Amino acid sequence: MNEVIKNILTRRSIRQYEDSQVPDELLDEVLLAGTYAASGRGLQAPIILVIQDKEVIKELSKINAEIFGRDTDPFFGAPTVLMVLTDRSRSTGIEDASLVLGNMMLAAHSVGLGTCWVHRAREQMDYEYVKNMLIKVGIDPNKYVGVGHLSLGYPKAVPKKAAPRKKDYIYKI
Ligand SMILES: Cc1cc2nc3c(=O)[nH]c(=O)nc-3n(C[C@H](O)[C@H](O)[C@H](O)COP(=O)(O)O)c2cc1C
Repeated sequence: MNEVIKNILTRRSIRQYEDSQVPDELLDEVLLAGTYAASGRGLQAPIILVIQDKEVIKELSKINAEIFGRDTDPFFGAPTVLMVLTDRSRSTGIEDASLVLGNMMLAAHSVGLGTCWVHRAREQMDYEYVKNMLIKVGIDPNKYVGVGHLSLGYPKAVPKKAAPRKKDYIYKI
């Protein structure tokens, strides 16, 4: 089995992180891999917002937890959060953004970092705090909608192997 496929098969969602920040060189590689995801008509509809400000992550965490209806940190204390948004006007925007998230999960794993997809990015758009946060960095919340986040950092604990794949996953004709 080649290294790319091994990397895909060994990636797991990480829900415990070290406090140490992700080095910029690795972050840049992960982001670059995200930007090279395929996109409908090659239009590159998604954008990525890197969040490393602890106060901003704390506020987002509160909002995300409120939407989730839970009293825990949905970002698992990760030192970095990557929020992926997509151009609302593009017909393949959500699919494009999902591929960006997938590319970055695999790229992160390949360099020894851990990620977990954290949902509810779309619902967060209703919050004034989120809108203002986006406007502050030059992202128009009327043009872009959140698709998902990745918590990103060095894994503190690596979960067990993935569950077996379901029997009827693949059909052939
Ligand atoms: C669209 C999507 C949304 C997800 N949302 C969350 C989430 O909000 N919180 C979380 O802890 N994991 C979330 N996950 C991670 C899944 O729970 C995880 O991928 C699944 O349990 C399989 O585990 P694995 O990633 O280790 O293979 C999400 C995954 C996807 C693809």
